[in-house]
Amino acid sequence: MAQAVRVVVLAAGQGKRMQSAHPKVLHQVCGRSMLAWVLEAALELDPERVILVVGHGREEVQAAALAEFPDAPISCVVQEDQLGTGHAVECAAGELQGFDGSVVVLCGDMPLLRSESLAALLEARSGEGMAMLTSFTESPTGYGRIVRDEEGNLQKIVEERDASHEERLIPEINSGVYAFGCSELLAYLGRVESENSQGERYLTDVPGMYAAEGREVGLVELLDAEEGAGVNSLADLAEVRWGLQLRILEHHLSAGVHIEDPATTYIDHGVEIGSGTKIFPCTVLRGGVRVGSGCEVGPFTHLREGTVLEDGAQVGNFTECKKSTLGAGSKAKHLSYLGDAVIGEGVNIGAGTIFANYDGASKHKTLVGDGAFVGSGTTIVAPNEIGAAATTGAGAVVTSSANVGEGEVWVGVPARKLENKHTQEDGGESPNQEGEED
Ligand code: UD1
Ligand code: MG
Repeated sequence: MAQAVRVVVLAAGQGKRMQSAHPKVLHQVCGRSMLAWVLEAALELDPERVILVVGHGREEVQAAALAEFPDAPISCVVQEDQLGTGHAVECAAGELQGFDGSVVVLCGDMPLLRSESLAALLEARSGEGMAMLTSFTESPTGYGRIVRDEEGNLQKIVEERDASHEERLIPEINSGVYAFGCSELLAYLGRVESENSQGERYLTDVPGMYAAEGREVGLVELLDAEEGAGVNSLADLAEVRWGLQLRILEHHLSAGVHIEDPATTYIDHGVEIGSGTKIFPCTVLRGGVRVGSGCEVGPFTHLREGTVLEDGAQVGNFTECKKSTLGAGSKAKHLSYLGDAVIGEGVNIGAGTIFANYDGASKHKTLVGDGAFVGSGTTIVAPNEIGAAATTGAGAVVTSSANVGEGEVWVGVPARKLENKHTQEDGGESPNQEGEED
């Protein structure tokens, strides 16, 4: 039977090195906070409880965690003053008293950590021993180093700032992820002192205490060293972003989405894309976007939250969509802004069309019926409605609430209805249908 597990996630620190007033663990990476990535990995272990240690920006951090995982067994404890990682775990003691399973401790600043590695960590711990995740890196700067004895067993962890020159040359680092037996952990925590350059109570002293008392310390090397990356600065954040982005892109590629140039394609967590869809270069798909099958997106396209492309829709060159639905087979291929719109099927949105959704105070909606043809350079001031199979002429400005009727043709500035749709055949005014068919 799987062992009972509780997970402690440390997220109370201010993250001074981020140079930001925003709590460190709430910085976004690929569409969600670092903390959300970490909590997801922790929750995949199916723990009895996740204890989130909050402090700096506690209300915000707590609210973000609960909003992201509303049904998960997450409880928050407060660390009033950030006196170190060992002290932070002690703050969770009330949630651990009387528990006799395994306690996994990890940091909220390591979004690349996979739950498979946490499972391997738990597997490696036995009896009254503990286990921890390590990795080897060419650039260990900033991390705690693993000091092994002659037999290769852990002797101690030494923090960068307390390390000697020789210790700093050690390429094996502490990723800050540990599994303990609950009662041993609580006993050792009470003995952690603050004799180090920061005057903090380091959790990293605990493994050395286990070793000194002859208890087993399993050193589990991460299969993928990047998982051990801890984010302490904006430069670190930019670096882990690529690792997460690659995972998201690989997921879509393996599901049959053609991504021509992964290096210039930005897809957030939680974006849905149907198979057979083509994503062209220099394209950004933000969280909360859904793209059907057989669609085309890009090049140079920004799909923002709430955008839905139904099957076969195409959005291309320099077009931005926000909270808008494009029906099946509809196209908006050049230089457009589509905001707060519901666009039917088989609609052609001509080059340079702008949905003017914001009047300076509120956002308003635009509805476009099936088969409508919106001419190049049309501005539609919302709220507005363009009826099914209606046409607007090139450069038309359809003023707010003008509501173009089904099958009608509107032209000019401000746009007016052409009474006889076929006037051009009589040599009359033309709607100039320079909309875009490719
Ligand atoms: C820590 C480890 C280091 C390891 C590295 C891995 C210690 C002393 N050092 O260093 O060995 O290589 O992680 O990334 O543990 N936190 C609190 N309360 C506190 C202090 C920190 O909750 O009082 C939280 C922070 O919010 C953060 C995590 O603990 O999520 C780690 O703290 P951080 O300051 O990032 O430690 P590092 O210097 O990275
Ligand atoms: Mg850190």
